[in-house]
Amino acid sequence: MPSKYLVVGNWKMHPATVDEAKVIAKKSRLIAGKLVRTEVVACPPFAFIPASVSRTQAENFSIGAQSVSGDEGGAHTGEVGAAMLKSLGVSYVIAGHSEQRAAGDTDEMISRRIGRALDAGLSVIACVGEKVREESGSHFAFIKEQIKNSLANVSEDKRSRIILAYEPVWAIGAQDAMAPEQIYEMSLFVKKAFADAFGPEAGLKVKVLYGGSVNFRNAADIIVRGKVDGLLVGRESVNMPGFSELLKAVDGIGTGQAQTA
Ligand code: PGA
Repeated sequence: MPSKYLVVGNWKMHPATVDEAKVIAKKSRLIAGKLVRTEVVACPPFAFIPASVSRTQAENFSIGAQSVSGDEGGAHTGEVGAAMLKSLGVSYVIAGHSEQRAAGDTDEMISRRIGRALDAGLSVIACVGEKVREESGSHFAFIKEQIKNSLANVSEDKRSRIILAYEPVWAIGAQDAMAPEQIYEMSLFVKKAFADAFGPEAGLKVKVLYGGSVNFRNAADIIVRGKVDGLLVGRESVNMPGFSELLKAVDGIGTGQAQTA
């Protein structure tokens, strides 16, 4: 069986209360348990991670964190370390999200966060994406640099735990996602940039997700025509039943039951 699609839900700073978080996590976990071709990673805010982790082993369902400290431990007020997250049952971390980049994260800081996460045994969803698109095509060079610099600390033995998420910043929190044809072009480019940094075999193996205004209507179409390995979903990941419809649509790809726009 080919590898499963990966759908990562980035809850951002939602929901408002732990009780709501428990409901979203439980629903996501229950739906994930029924999926055959799809794995789900829910990324709640730090505060809600313990309430979102299930005590029983959950099929096709893992918990991720939205960030991680670039330091190992010590006097870093407000920070949360990779080993702490691991000890809570976290398996993935998001790094380099454009909202963190906008808040001051540089490629160098992101590469430190990624390095700490990998050292602790976590997998990393490394986000890249251009702020604007110019006729000149300058976004290609921009993304290539982001990949090279953000992953500067990734050693060969750990690179298989990197998943790339291509998220054009202008499509995040927007009305429409990027067109699937453009997503396909970018997913190929992102794989190529990864191959340039880590070798052709790594480029063939790396998973590429698309993120930016994904919802239950466009999800399957983006995977099929955009030829990506999965999705990074913001708003729709805390919107039930939208997220459950999204997961069913993705899982139905190739079975004649996929819901496309
Ligand atoms: P959105 O967010 O799905 O709400 O556009 C995506 C993201 O920021 O990862």
